[in-house]
Amino acid sequence: MPTLLVINGPNLNMLGRREPEIYGRQTLADIIESLETMADDHNIRLFDFQSNAEHEIVERIHQAMDDGTDYIIINPAAFTHTSVAIRDALATVSIPFIEVHLSNIHKREEFRAHSYFSDLADGVIAGLGPIGYELAFLAASEKIC
Ligand code: DQA
Repeated sequence: MPTLLVINGPNLNMLGRREPEIYGRQTLADIIESLETMADDHNIRLFDFQSNAEHEIVERIHQAMDDGTDYIIINPAAFTHTSVAIRDALATVSIPFIEVHLSNIHKREEFRAHSYFSDLADGVIAGLGPIGYELAFLAASEKIC
């Protein structure tokens, strides 16, 4: 069964309550639930992982090398702008991925405009809110099904 891993970085567990004017009112559970429905429809196995800790995300990516993961959708959140370690983990496992951001990181503070991931990603979606994850799912499913 084609397998997709969805990774969400720090503070995304607070979606729905976190700066709703920027990130909206949907919770992460809402977003994952809609991806699970899509995964059922497409016969895709979905793993989801959220952590506020950089090393846990690095370790989850390493695990993906051995758990059958074919494709990754990742919102690295604040680690987008800081984490060479997570970038290196993705390069290490060499699993293709799409980078997703709820907000348009290019329309915000200057420090958010740089991503350590975009030049490795198959694609980048930013600024479309939770639908961005669904669009990433559809693109990923085209590649792995
Ligand atoms: C984010 C954008 C990041 O700059 C920020 O640190 C986040 C969320 C987004 O989804 O819009 O935590 O990745």
